[in-house]
Amino acid sequence: MENNPYALAERAAAALTALTYPKFDVALVTGSGWVPAADALGEPAHEIAFTELPGFTAPAVAGHGGKVRALRVGDKNVLVFLGRTHLYEGRGVEPAVHGVRTALAAGVKTVVLTNAAGGLRPETQSIGDPVLISDHLNLTGANPLTGTSFLDLTEVYSKRLRALALEADPSLAEGVYAAFRGPTYETPAEIRMLRTLGADLIGMSTVLEAIAAREGGAEVLGVSLVTNVAAGLSDALLDHAEVLEAGRAAAGRMGVLLKTVVERL
Ligand code: 6GU
Repeated sequence: MENNPYALAERAAAALTALTYPKFDVALVTGSGWVPAADALGEPAHEIAFTELPGFTAPAVAGHGGKVRALRVGDKNVLVFLGRTHLYEGRGVEPAVHGVRTALAAGVKTVVLTNAAGGLRPETQSIGDPVLISDHLNLTGANPLTGTSFLDLTEVYSKRLRALALEADPSLAEGVYAAFRGPTYETPAEIRMLRTLGADLIGMSTVLEAIAAREGGAEVLGVSLVTNVAAGLSDALLDHAEVLEAGRAAAGRMGVLLKTVVERL
């Protein structure tokens, strides 16, 4: 077994490129509910199970995929991760960023991170809205760079890519994404705290991958799908089936968004 996470990512990239294309331009990580939108990118030329690649593990939660696709969109080689490893699975921070590091090692310069998020602003957000991530609050208590170097995070989520996404879909809202490690959803008191802190969206992913992508010099686009109202802001209780259903309902709009952005990169 490899104990250096960067070397492990190099090995995964070598295995992946041997089976697919020699080099990739874009990586897309699909969160809960985003798989139908990823399908809209086009027919994959290759589809590989996570279990065939060094350092990847099958996702623990239903609806989180566990496959990597390779396809061409316009003149770009695109890597699509159907599912991701979350911090709440208890394997630590390295597995949670292994997909992004593998993509970087395969040449990727643009990383698109998608997720399902709870909405903290029901006054202005609707279920099924995709929201561009403008910035984040990393409340996971973890960081993929521990023990390495300092890194400027002034512009984690690229202004250029957000502008491209807004050209593709001018009705998109922007918001600050906060991440806890989970796996519990938040209490109403925690949700009130997050609103006070300036968060607009809450989830359990994305922030560590975004940091890892920035460490590798890639540009990051983050998009949350608002799948539910966060705890205490409505009468509804939270459940995972609701998250998946919101994704299916919004797939058309999100698929067009992803395809248009990748084509215009
Ligand atoms: Cl309300 N909280 C968290 N942490 N993740 C979510 C969510 C809420 N809704 C979807 N994913």
